[in-house]
Amino acid sequence: MESMLSNLTPVHAPSIPDCFLLPADHIHRATGAAAAAASSLPVIDMSLPRDEVRAAILDAGKEHGFFQASSIDLVINHGVPEKVLRDMEAVCEEFFQMPAADKAEFYSDDKSKKNRLFSGSSFETLGEKEVVGNYTVLVRGLAMEILRLLCASLGLRPDYFVGDISEGRIVLDINRYPPSPDPSRTLGLPPHCDRDLITVLLPGAVPGLEVAYNGDWIRVQPVPNSFVVNFGLQLEVVTNGMLRSVEHRAATNSSETRTSVATFIVPADECVVGPDERFVGEENPARYRAMSVGEFKRTHNVVNLGSSFQSTNLKNNQKCT
Ligand code: OGA
Ligand code: NI
Repeated sequence: MESMLSNLTPVHAPSIPDCFLLPADHIHRATGAAAAAASSLPVIDMSLPRDEVRAAILDAGKEHGFFQASSIDLVINHGVPEKVLRDMEAVCEEFFQMPAADKAEFYSDDKSKKNRLFSGSSFETLGEKEVVGNYTVLVRGLAMEILRLLCASLGLRPDYFVGDISEGRIVLDINRYPPSPDPSRTLGLPPHCDRDLITVLLPGAVPGLEVAYNGDWIRVQPVPNSFVVNFGLQLEVVTNGMLRSVEHRAATNSSETRTSVATFIVPADECVVGPDERFVGEENPARYRAMSVGEFKRTHNVVNLGSSFQSTNLKNNQKCT
């Protein structure tokens, strides 16, 4: 814990503790070819006419499971979003700049704790209630707007994702990636699919997020004042695989600390999620079983430590075949 809590820099940490090292052949380095082919993730200007945004989200979602959402201020009637984002970043920075002993108070392996710092990624909600509250309202508004637009594209009623399916406790993960003396042997986050309905990530200015694409990784170049949005496994299940939850990971770099804020829109634990009948038919049998989100969370194997390129890792417990 000591090494994780200190503000690691290459000067302070010339070598990496063994527990953070992965075998070299487990990190399939991004070759850049995928990024060149796909020129990073699609960036969608959220202020365009609704029909255009709707079509762009569906296209990006089907192709990548990911997109970047820019010009969010015109969509969400919520004061000046840019200030909300900067305040949120400042609160995160303040937290991580605290002395290790103060941060240690938040350290816990107990997943039921509301606010915690733990090795590998994150903790839920920070102390600055107003800043975090404003941020959460803004992000949730954006997520719900994107879900509404998806409903229109998918032939679902506009409020399909309102209620239990999106109203579990919002989880906010603040990921802190210190510089790594050897980025070729370390990952900030191993390859995984998010287990929620939809994720809205404030990626920060330092690149690091990589998204699986055609057997390679796209290195995401963050666009200022934009969010990275991706579909979670629950959305994949509801749409019977029409929208996919795509694997992603966080790479490290040797010079700059990176901080990102992931907001997960999660169904309530008792909510039973399965493929909606509109996506199931003779030609298209159900690919997933329905199960409560609580059971899903208990049984789902979260991450692959290696360099897998599964477009989904649902098969462990929910796939029908
Ligand atoms: C996550 C995640 C990516 C990043 O928190 O689930 O994928 O770039 N984060 O921090
Ligand atoms: Ni993720």
